Formats: sequence, structure tokens, C-alpha cells
Amino acid sequence: MIKIVASIFIVLCMLLFAGLNSSATAEDKPGDMMQKMMKMGKANFESSLENGEELYSDSSLGVTGLSCNSCHPRGGTAGGKAEMEYKGMIMRPKIPSLKGAAAHFPAPRGPERKVVSLKGMNNLCIKAFLKGKPMDENSQNATDLANFVSLFSTNVPLTPDGKMKYKK
Ligand code: HEC
Repeated sequence: MIKIVASIFIVLCMLLFAGLNSSATAEDKPGDMMQKMMKMGKANFESSLENGEELYSDSSLGVTGLSCNSCHPRGGTAGGKAEMEYKGMIMRPKIPSLKGAAAHFPAPRGPERKVVSLKGMNNLCIKAFLKGKPMDENSQNATDLANFVSLFSTNVPLTPDGKMKYKK
């Protein structure tokens, strides 16, 4: 009885192994698939940055004719102040450089000092200065734009804004 169960088990194992093997092509060697996936990852990452760079200079994200690059040229600042309206009030915040900006989000920003992520901050600028529709924060475009803006924080350590100590 034990012998029968054991041989059925062995046959099943052989069938399973044959099945797994048949899905791989003849030239697939162990590690090939991993290499393919790694290559795919890099290409995806680069195309995300390329899309982010395009969005950064895209004036069609809003209706003012401005893009991110108009005020933050190549991650720097155009200088001066930008005018925005909030609940009927006119405000003129200084235009900051984006060098190191990505490293201090989430942070309280905007007239309500709401805590926003970098994507949320990008959306605040889209709404206030481009007068465009904010991006869905889960969209690939929002991620790609944030990915590109993060490049201006290369080698900048993560510097959270919060002063509160973590309590147990
Ligand atoms: C008309 C000029 C203008 C345009 C166009 C503009 N911004 Fe801004 N941006 C500002 C101003 C002004 C601030 C500071 C806001 C504040 O202090 O509340 C700011 C702040 C930021 C910050 C936060 C910087 C920090 O250190 O806190 C980020 C990130 C940012 N902008 C990204 C973008 C992106 C991405 C775009 C394009 C979608 C964009 N901005 C378009 C003027 C602009």
C-alpha cells in the first residue's frame, strides 16, 4: 500500500516538473528570466523619468500658458513671487528652488497648511498657478512627475519637517 502511494506521488511530481519545464523555451537558462525582468525594470524607470520630464515642461497641464519649468527652471527658481488666489484673497508667495525640495515631504503646504505628499504639493502648484485639474495621486503621471522632481534632491538626505518626537 505504502509503495503504491509513494509511486503515485513520484509520478505526480514528475508530471508537475515536466509541466513547469514545458513553459520555458529551449534557450531559457536559469537566471535568464531574472535578467529579462531586471532589464525591463530599468527601461520602465527611465521611461517614467522621461515622461516626468515632459510633464514638467508641459503647459497643457493648465490654462495659464505656464509649466512647472516656467517658475522652477531646471529645478531652480525663476525668482520673484507668484500670484495666486485663495478664497477671494490674493497671495504672493516667493517662488522657491526645487533643489532638495522632494527630501522634505510630506510637509504642511498651501494656504491651509495641510500636510501633503510631494504629489500633493505638485498638485497644489497645478491648481494655484497652472489653473489646471489636479492629477489623480495614484496615476502613473503623478508618480512620474514626482519621480522627475525627486531628481533635484539627488544626494540630499531625507529631512522630515516634523519637530514632534516619536512617543511609544
Ligand atoms: C507661477 C509659478 C509656479 C509654477 C508654474 C509652479 N510652481 Fe511650484 N511653487 C511656486 C511657489 C510660489 C511655491 C511656494 C508655495 C508656498 O510657499 O506655499 C512653489 C512650491 C513648489 C514646491 C515645494 C517646494 C518646497 O520646498 O516646499 C514644489 C515641489 C513645486 N512647487 C513643484 C511644482 C511643480 C511640479 C510644478 C508644475 C506642475 C510647479 N511647481 C509649478 C510657484 C510655481
